[in-house]
Amino acid sequence: MTKRVLVTGAGGPAGVAVIRSLLRRSDLTVFAADMDGWASGIYLVPTEQRRLVPPGRDEDFVPTIARLVEDDRLDLVISTVDVELIALADRRDELAPAVLAAPSADTLNTALDKLALSERCAPTGRTPRTVLAGADAEAIDWEFPVFAKPRQGAGSRGVRLVPDRDALLALPTDEGLIVQDFLPGEEYSVDVIADATGNVVAAVPRTRARVDSGVAIAGRTLRDHELEETAASIARAIGLVGVANVQLRRDRAGRAVLLEVNPRFPGALPLTIAAGVDIPSLVADLFLGREIPVSVPFREVASVRFLEDIIVEVDEVLVSDHAGHQEEL
Ligand SMILES: Nc1ncnc2c1ncn2[C@@H]1O[C@H](COP(=O)(O)OP(=O)(O)O)[C@@H](O)[C@H]1O
Ligand SMILES: [Mg+2]
Repeated sequence: MTKRVLVTGAGGPAGVAVIRSLLRRSDLTVFAADMDGWASGIYLVPTEQRRLVPPGRDEDFVPTIARLVEDDRLDLVISTVDVELIALADRRDELAPAVLAAPSADTLNTALDKLALSERCAPTGRTPRTVLAGADAEAIDWEFPVFAKPRQGAGSRGVRLVPDRDALLALPTDEGLIVQDFLPGEEYSVDVIADATGNVVAAVPRTRARVDSGVAIAGRTLRDHELEETAASIARAIGLVGVANVQLRRDRAGRAVLLEVNPRFPGALPLTIAAGVDIPSLVADLFLGREIPVSVPFREVASVRFLEDIIVEVDEVLVSDHAGHQEEL
């Protein structure tokens, strides 16, 4: 019997990549959901498997997913959206009998707080010095410049270079800013999948040669023992089960150290899949309780991306209360 899987965030590049990967499997029935009826990935699945959901922050979000589990007899729920993941991971019991394909709430909360993350990962020896702005930061004899960013930031919002001690003293101390050693070197993204025991099945480093709206649209995978091992040690430190994207950057000494962890499917998945590690398929098997390989190899390969249109009948477009259909009319 085929297993029934819901993928949310169908409008994002990660959602689209997950849906495309799972559609290649004949043993899965894929449902696609988004809060916006114009989300492209919805239209990759047959009409009767398209769903609209409230925004992840909405108090009705988790109950709606629980209702879908019941109505659609879902076995597995895969979310590709940060805010949804946090909401779902805290209340995963409500989704029973379906399983949520996500790391523990503790892993998610650690990853989404860059200070807690740095403290948790310090034993790996691969973290830049990281402290809260204010007294803690002022007590350190930094080599300037240093770097400051929001503890819970995303999409590079609020990041800044701090050129000298005066600028450090002038940083606001009430905004949850963290101060960190400046990392002048090359930056890498490493897509990691860990199994139910925390064993790292694959850690695939890639460059982000071109980035559009925070998503890598061109790049290459890299076989590099240091990058793979560093990302794996970070995944182990946070108790990762499932997928995460570990960002590393080289420090002044040229060592790859931790920038941040995005505990979800990355938008650049097609590259990692093409390199040999079909993360969505492995994640589906993992959370369906099936055996997955202890280790999956990958090769060096590069990717570029173009846009593609999906044509549907006008009355096929799902209309939700939550997205901007009105403004567009
Ligand atoms: N310590 C640092 N040294 C140099 N550049 C940094 C440092 N921390 C962050 N950056 C730059 O800021 C960007 C965003 O930081 P990151 O930690 O990835 O947070 P987010 O992507 O969640 O905003 C990075 O991609 C990098 O270019
Ligand atoms: Mg980042």
